Amino acid sequence: MLLLNKIQDIRKNTKEWKSQSYTIGLVPTMGALHKGHASLIEKAKETCDKVIVSIFVNPIQFGPNEDYNRYPRTIDQDSKLCESLGVDIVFAPTAIEMYGDNIKTSNNNYTYVCPPYNYVDCLCGKSRPGHFDGVATVVTKLFNITTPNYAFFGQKDAQQLFILKRIVKDLNMDINIIPCPIVREDDGLALSSRNSYLSPAERNNALTISKALMKIKQLYSEGINDVNVLFDTAIATLNPNIELDYIEFRDFTTFEKVEKVGKNTLIAIAAKSGSTRLIDNIII
Ligand code: PAF
Repeated sequence: MLLLNKIQDIRKNTKEWKSQSYTIGLVPTMGALHKGHASLIEKAKETCDKVIVSIFVNPIQFGPNEDYNRYPRTIDQDSKLCESLGVDIVFAPTAIEMYGDNIKTSNNNYTYVCPPYNYVDCLCGKSRPGHFDGVATVVTKLFNITTPNYAFFGQKDAQQLFILKRIVKDLNMDINIIPCPIVREDDGLALSSRNSYLSPAERNNALTISKALMKIKQLYSEGINDVNVLFDTAIATLNPNIELDYIEFRDFTTFEKVEKVGKNTLIAIAAKSGSTRLIDNIII
C-alpha cells in the first residue's frame, strides 16, 4: 500500500491504472477510521480493481466554532487499518496541497461548488452554514484528483449522500455513487468518529437517538405513519439531556418534507449530547 500526500503522485498511479483499464474506487474520509469506514472499504474492494482511501480533515466544511482543530487525527492507526483491508493507496494531503495558500486568506478567493439551496439550507445545513458547500467542493476536488469510477459514502450522512448524488448528476460526472448502510454498535449507537468525544454518561444519553428512530420504525411497522404522532414519540424517547437540533421526515428522492411516512422516507435526527453533535437516521 502507498501512502501519498501529493496530488501529482496520485495522478501518476491513477494514469497507470487507467491505461490498464482497472476500475478505481474512492472512499473519501476525514480519518479516525472505524468499522463504518471499514465497511465502505470492504464494499469498494468487492466492487473495484483498485481502491483509494482519502484521509483529509477538510477545513472548509467546518464553521468557525466547530471542531476542526479538535477533530481526531490518527493517521498511523488509519494507515494500518487500510493496509490490513487491502487498500492500494491512502491519499492524505495537507490543506496547503489541496487549497494552496488561498486557504489562509479568504473564502472569497477560491472556487466553490455550491449545491442547490433547497438541499443545503435545511437539516444540518441550517445550523452549519457553508458546510455542504465545503463538502461539495472537496469531494469534487477529490473526484478530479483520483478519477474514480465508483465512490462510496455512508448513509449516516444522508443529506451529504443526497447532495453528492445530485452533484454527480447535475455536473455530468461519470462516477457511480454507492451508498452504504449505517454501521451500529451492539447497543444501537451509530458509529461516528465524534463518538470518541462522549463521556460514558453522554454516550448513554446519546443511545436514545437511535432508540427514538427504532421506535418510529416499530410504530410504522404497526401501521402508524402520521409524522406528528411519530415526531412526538421520538421526542418522548429522547433523554431530556439531549439537545435536539432537528427531527425531519423527508422523501429521499425529492428531499421534500412529508406528512405521512412511506417507502423511501428519510427520518433524520441531529442532536447534541454534551457538546458533541451527533446525527443518525433511518430510511424506510
Ligand atoms: O463524510 C465525511 O467524512 C466528509 O464529509 C467527506 C465526504 C470525507 C468530505 O470531507
